[in-house]
Amino acid sequence: MASILGISAFYHDSAACLVVDGEIIAAAQEERFTRIKHDYNFPVHAAHYCLKEAGISAAQLDHVGFYDKPLLKFDRLLETYLDYAPSGFRSFLKAIPLWMKEKLWMPDLIRTELAKANGEDDERRAKKAGKKFEWKLLFGDHHESHAASAFYPSPFEEAAILTIDGVGEWATSSIGIGKGNEITLLKELRFPDSLGLLYSAFTYYTGFKVNSGEYKVMGLAPYGEPKYVSLIKEKLAEVREDGSLRMNHEYFSYSQGLRMTNVAFDRVFDGQPRRPESKITQREMDLARSIQAITEEVMLKMTAYVYKETGMKKLCLAGGVALNCVANGRVLRESPFEDIWIQPAAGDAGGAIGIALAIWHRYLGNQRASPEKSGTWRSGAGVRGPRRGSPAGVFDPPVDHAQDARATSLPPYADGMKGSFLGPRNSVDEIEEFLRSKNLPHKKYSRAQLPEVVAGVLADEKIVGLHQGRMEFGPRALGGRSIIGDARSATMQSVMNLKIKYRESFRPFAPSVLREDVADWFELNYDSPYMMLVADVAESRRREMSDEEKGLFGISKLNIKRSEIPAVTHVDYSARIQTVRRETNPLYWEIIEAFRQKTGCPVIVNTSFNVRGEPIVCTPEDSYRCFMRTEMDFLVLENCVLDKKEQPEFAEDADWRSEFRLD
Ligand SMILES: [Fe+2]
Repeated sequence: MASILGISAFYHDSAACLVVDGEIIAAAQEERFTRIKHDYNFPVHAAHYCLKEAGISAAQLDHVGFYDKPLLKFDRLLETYLDYAPSGFRSFLKAIPLWMKEKLWMPDLIRTELAKANGEDDERRAKKAGKKFEWKLLFGDHHESHAASAFYPSPFEEAAILTIDGVGEWATSSIGIGKGNEITLLKELRFPDSLGLLYSAFTYYTGFKVNSGEYKVMGLAPYGEPKYVSLIKEKLAEVREDGSLRMNHEYFSYSQGLRMTNVAFDRVFDGQPRRPESKITQREMDLARSIQAITEEVMLKMTAYVYKETGMKKLCLAGGVALNCVANGRVLRESPFEDIWIQPAAGDAGGAIGIALAIWHRYLGNQRASPEKSGTWRSGAGVRGPRRGSPAGVFDPPVDHAQDARATSLPPYADGMKGSFLGPRNSVDEIEEFLRSKNLPHKKYSRAQLPEVVAGVLADEKIVGLHQGRMEFGPRALGGRSIIGDARSATMQSVMNLKIKYRESFRPFAPSVLREDVADWFELNYDSPYMMLVADVAESRRREMSDEEKGLFGISKLNIKRSEIPAVTHVDYSARIQTVRRETNPLYWEIIEAFRQKTGCPVIVNTSFNVRGEPIVCTPEDSYRCFMRTEMDFLVLENCVLDKKEQPEFAEDADWRSEFRLD
């Protein structure tokens, strides 16, 4: 048996992942435990959780992998500083202490931090005994880790690989081939030419937070017109036929400064960056639409080039830019590839999975059990039999696939991510103990009753916090830690944005749809289990707009009811789709199925269980707190259902809205 812990840390979204004999046993982001969004510190809590899930201690690990190479990154920092000296001196001074204190001493740091993850008692015992950890520490290349996270868990025996992000050590994008257990990277695009950094420059300029507000730019884009596309291409970035970019560094300051853009950039667009939280104008919408259009063009050109270079029929994607699910949807529809698979934790958190699997397959030379060939990979929560480290009394559902005639017509689907349900799960005993200790009124239902009960309140337009099964790994909530509602409701989008999430009113919501029914409701007949693909609502489900409605611009487009499922139909009819299969997420599937039987609609709204600026909830305490702070109507904690109307008054000492920094 070989146990491998993968770690990504010190940039943003620190995470840990445990792989045992090639199987991903657990993975989690540090932010979920510390409650600090995008926490970049060493993932001591996440590592501790992963070890606990497998029932082992850090001393029993065989290998520990770090997702990139700090010395090479330092080399880039130094070289970039020398190129731009003395103008980058301030940012250089700001970065150096962290490098001197932590990053350059990574092996020592990892050993010390993992001793903490072993628990205090163990640490003291280990110190007393003068015990050394025996595991071997290995460092991967940043884009190799992304590539490994994209290919190894994919359902493909062989595939082309494309990784695109801001920057790793030097690479900003790389192209490769995965075959069996081998990955070969063929080409790379290097810093400072970077699609991710170009997108982040516009994220900054439109007044959102870099490395977190990129999906807001993507959501804002459909309100705008692509009027700056030629200007961007002419002045800021030359887009070549092979998808490579040549950026004009007169307009950017990320190489030497603390800002992404400079005064020359301001001059191109006639003004300063929008101040965060100030009014969003048509200009920001047009800028968002323009950079989104360029991103889609670049990704289509890149994928066409990758197809030509590799001769592969299937494509795996990872890296932060692969979270751009609008572009991914176009790649699926318009690129020459027959199939695509996108790592759900496409950003740096997924590097923890990548390095752990790379050690297992590449370093240790173990073969992949490809689901295409053998179908042996297990697909998550529906798997029978004892699970390593599973808590006592877990709420295991009675799945009977034979009775589900509709499912038998589906093409098979299995990847190595277990539906991305790789985080902690609370047993029914734990939930009940929590509810008893706080004296919280609730009703307990049987497993068979629960879907019907939840579907009933959803059909009454009530909003439900759903906490069940294992927590998701990656930025998307997929029905484990989700807030759900009725997609048919015309008021749901504004209610959820303003009274539940406390976030910007322009933001769209995503649908969860039964895999069996996706093609009836959307222009997609494909698995999108991780909400990584955008496609349009089916024409037959759309509502004809009046001439007056068609003439509306910008944010005034928001309140038009444009389909049978207005809560999840964006202003351009698009939707960020999650398809749900019973075998991967049985309870969630059954809730939506019960909703379909009640209403005729197999689509519900699914948004992450948190408020703006808060990491997605992890524990029952987190879920209850978020439930009481917002206008959610019901909370489901495994098989216990809490009605807001029955809850005691929830008093807090401080204003919780100041607890989370706005993202
Ligand atoms: Fe990255």
